[in-house]
Amino acid sequence: MPSLRFLKGSNGCPISQAQNPAAAYPWTMPPERATQGPDQARVAASVPSVAVLGERLAQHDYLADDGLTTALFCAVRLPQPLLLEGEAGVGKTQAAKALAAMLDTPLIRLQCFEGIDASEALYEWDYPRQLLGIRLAEAQGERLTDQALFSRDYLIERPLLQALEHRGPNPAVLLIDEVDRADEEFEAFLFELLAENAVTVPELGTITAVIPPIVILTSNRTRDLHDALKRRCLYHWIDYPDLEHATAIVRLHVPDAPESLVRQVAEAVQRLRGIDVQKPPGVAEAIDWVHAVRLLGIEVLDVPAVQRTLGSVLKYREDQDAARAEGLAWVAGI
Ligand SMILES: Nc1ncnc2c1ncn2[C@@H]1O[C@H](COP(=O)(O)OP(=O)(O)OP(=O)(O)O)[C@@H](O)[C@H]1O
Ligand SMILES: [Mg+2]
Repeated sequence: MPSLRFLKGSNGCPISQAQNPAAAYPWTMPPERATQGPDQARVAASVPSVAVLGERLAQHDYLADDGLTTALFCAVRLPQPLLLEGEAGVGKTQAAKALAAMLDTPLIRLQCFEGIDASEALYEWDYPRQLLGIRLAEAQGERLTDQALFSRDYLIERPLLQALEHRGPNPAVLLIDEVDRADEEFEAFLFELLAENAVTVPELGTITAVIPPIVILTSNRTRDLHDALKRRCLYHWIDYPDLEHATAIVRLHVPDAPESLVRQVAEAVQRLRGIDVQKPPGVAEAIDWVHAVRLLGIEVLDVPAVQRTLGSVLKYREDQDAARAEGLAWVAGI
């Protein structure tokens, strides 16, 4: 059961049953939908196979290996939420962005943080507007009913509700980013959404998606997620890419960089990952590094070049010290 924190109005007061006019809401979604609606047929036509999905993602500047493409394919076609875990900068968030771009559908992003609750994630009543409404009605000698006060006019939709109510033609991609930053309580709040494409809140009753969104959750694994959340999701761990894959990704992002420089940087990043650093560099750092080196007009990664640009790739003083202890020539691969 979600805690009371998730069942409060925007003024912070718990919502009583008497305040709950949910049953009367005409816009409450129907409880069931066909699992294979026209939206699913459209998606199936544009993503007929794992191979086609991989090609289409590449057209949108995202190079996924076979494991990740297969996981995304299942998430899109079953459909079932997909939990992506991996170190920082391996492309978890970008996977959802690329998927949305590929399907030409909105990316609806919920950025999680400690203390996030339903008012940030699902909906909030527009309390100042409600007060204004009450005053205006009073000025006209009228009284707003609960039903009028808790009507659509005063509702602010947050990402989860936006995703459930997206009307197509393709399903929205709902990105629940960095879910490990949210409290366990919030994770429990997500169960119903993940399993049933529905949310239940006192004022609104149960709202079920007309077109279930494609749901991607990401986690940096700062803490373990609850088994109950994992049970409702497909799971894929995004590993650091191998050298070929990393080189191809960097080349995609910095197409005008010399091939040899891109490869040198990709190799150097791999080497740095092998030493004892607090924050091993990922794909993002490799891309940033090539950008910085190019900006400085450097064509070859040599010792002075590494010296000048180490801050693009190692973000802790101790990590830079560890690299220097190995030798900057070693970092450059010479
Ligand atoms: N497979 C890939 N194809 C193309 N670009 C990629 C790929 N992987 C990572 N990138 C690029 O690397 C950068 C970082 O990716 P992203 O922000 O998705 O990482 P992340 O795993 O979400 O990191 P964090 O955990 O810090 O949020 C982006 O610029 C992204 O475009
Ligand atoms: Mg991210």
